[in-house]
Parts: sequence; structure tokens; C-alpha cells
Amino acid sequence: MKWPNHGGQSESIKKLLDIQIDKELIDFSANLNPLGPPFWLKETLMNHYESVTRYPDPSYSKSSVAVANHEGVEQDSILLTNGGAEAIFLVAKFFEKGKALIVQPTFGEYERACKHYHIEVEDVLYEQTNGFNLPMQVIGEKLKEKDVIFLCRPNNPIGTVIAEKDLQLLVTEGKKTGTYIVVDEAFVDFLPDSTTSLSKWLAIYPNLILLRSLTKMYTIPGLRIGYLMAHPTVIHVLKNEQIPWSINSLVDAVVPKLLGDKGFVKDTKKWFLEQSESLYCDLSTLDFYLSPSQVNFYLLQDKKQQNRTEELYYFLVRHGILPRHTHNFKGLNGRFLRLAIRSKEENQRLLVVLQKWRMES
Ligand SMILES: Cc1ncc(COP(=O)(O)O)c(C=O)c1O
Repeated sequence: MKWPNHGGQSESIKKLLDIQIDKELIDFSANLNPLGPPFWLKETLMNHYESVTRYPDPSYSKSSVAVANHEGVEQDSILLTNGGAEAIFLVAKFFEKGKALIVQPTFGEYERACKHYHIEVEDVLYEQTNGFNLPMQVIGEKLKEKDVIFLCRPNNPIGTVIAEKDLQLLVTEGKKTGTYIVVDEAFVDFLPDSTTSLSKWLAIYPNLILLRSLTKMYTIPGLRIGYLMAHPTVIHVLKNEQIPWSINSLVDAVVPKLLGDKGFVKDTKKWFLEQSESLYCDLSTLDFYLSPSQVNFYLLQDKKQQNRTEELYYFLVRHGILPRHTHNFKGLNGRFLRLAIRSKEENQRLLVVLQKWRMES
């Protein structure tokens, strides 16, 4: 079967599985914030409608200043991108024909981007038996041979967060060996305030490159906005590679307001904590394995029937719930499902369907 590469494709899944349901599936496969977008966004976009008749400011100065202030870094350390996806491809271009290490399972676009730019890729794996912790020893042994290591923190699809002390060891070592450490922080905004971005390290480690996305937290994947943070010399090179007007004028107009809406992020974190605590408790009681996630999605497997994940997938779809398959996540090979945390009512619906599965299987 040709599984789609990304989540959020309910119609193509229905077609693929030949399932006749008139109702929309509840989409647990895309890990977007269900509270978004912020209520004011629609009206603000309408108010900036006229901006679509003009070319955007090529340096996106208002948004760039807003991002730099938000992150506490200089403007020459950031580059706005067309979502995190463009940031990934720009970074890969920087290492064209080089050697990369990717810690898998993780977001598939690092590998795709590396292949696109003829980068030789070696994988190392997070192991469930090791609590999905970073395999520090193997990475340490391979680091000096590599130009770049791709890490995702929090990691998609597991939801785990690499410990700061481990990362510090890697960037410090990489600084000596000339190895760059790329950390994709697309989901960092969902973490509790005590676990922060690595942007504070940018001034110390010229070999650190951070990737960000605003599409997850603010539920704007169709609007497209992300950014890259790195040493000014790296940003300078990447800027020259970027296609002009990569950021559209509508999104350029709303970035300062999005980043200024601290209440929205605070409310999201509060909602997330409330939902995840009770949901995880109920799922564990039903005897499902959950990955030790700290963000708005997690891996799930039936502890009692670990080899029936595909049947569980079909069962959920037939009952109106769309999970994310894990066939194209290296090392997972379909053995788990990835589920997003959704609204209270939708999470409740998931629990009801899983209870039914438990009773019938
Ligand atoms: C880890 C990670 N990084 C980056 C992206 C790309 O997001 P976007 O291009 O919408 O900003 C995704 C999307 O799923 C992701 O999971």
C-alpha cells in the first residue's frame, strides 16, 4: 500500500482504504494546535488584503525585527522562511555533497532534503528499550566524520526532548571537529516554560543551527511561516540561496501580532497540560503503551497486541478517527500510531473507540 508521507490527509486515506464514511474523520494525524488559529487572525488578514497587490518587502523587515526581539538574538542571526520545510531544504543546501547523520525515527524531510542535495546520509536510531533517549555513544563515535547532524527537539514522531546536557556535549564537540548541529525546534513552543529553546546558545556555538515553524502552534500550515537561527556567516550564505519573496505579504503583515500574542501560547500550554494528564492516565489504564512525549502528540501501541497496529489503524478510521501511520518513520516501521492531542470532546471520542477495540479484540 502507498501510505501518504505526511499527516492530515483524510480524503486520500478514505480513498486508499476504500472506506465509505460521509462524515469528516477527526484528524488526529496532523500535530497542529486545535485551539488555533488565534481568533483575531481572520479579520487581521482581511484588513491586509490590499497587501497582496504589492510585492512583499524583500527583507520582511517588520517581521524580522519581531522575530529577533522575540528570540533575543540579533537580526543578522535570523532568516524567515516559507515554513520549517523551506528552512530544512536551505540548511541541506548549505551542506551540499557533504556527510550527514540523522537520528531516526524523525521527520522525513531531513532525509529528503539531504538526498536532494546529494548529501551522504547515515542513520542512527532512538531505541524504545532505551526510553527513546539520544544514543550519545554512537553519535559521539561518528560525529567527527560528519559535516552535520540533524536532530529534532521535541522529536517528531516520539515527542521526546533531548536533554540539554547531552546537546551541550554534542555542540561543544562539534565546534572542535567542525561539525554543525542542526536542531529542528518546530514544536518547542508547546513545551513547559521550564524547558526552553537553544537560542541562548547561538552566541557561543557558531556550529549550531536552529529551525523553527510557526505553523504548528498557531495552526497556520496553509499560510506558511518559519525561520532559521544561526551564526551571521551562515545566515548570509543561506539568504543568498533563498528564492525571492519566499514569505508572502499577508503572513509578513501578521507575524509581529502572532508573536506578540503571549496569551494564546499561555492558554495553549494550559489546555495541553489539562488534556494530556487525563488522557494519558486513561490510555494507560486501557493498557496502551504511550511514548514519553512532552508535546502535543505521542506514539501509541496496544501493549497486549503489539503486532496488530495496522488492524488498530483500520479500526480507528472505520470509527471516524484518523491516526498517523508510522510506516515511513525509520525504526518504527508501522509498529506504532502517532496521535495528536485534540479537544476534550475529541479525545473523549478516541477513548470511547479504544475502549470498544479493547472489548472486541
Ligand atoms: C519536526 C517538523 N519540522 C518541520 C515541519 C515543517 O512544518 P512547516 O513547514 O509547516 O513549518 C514539520 C511538519 O510536520 C515537522 O514535523
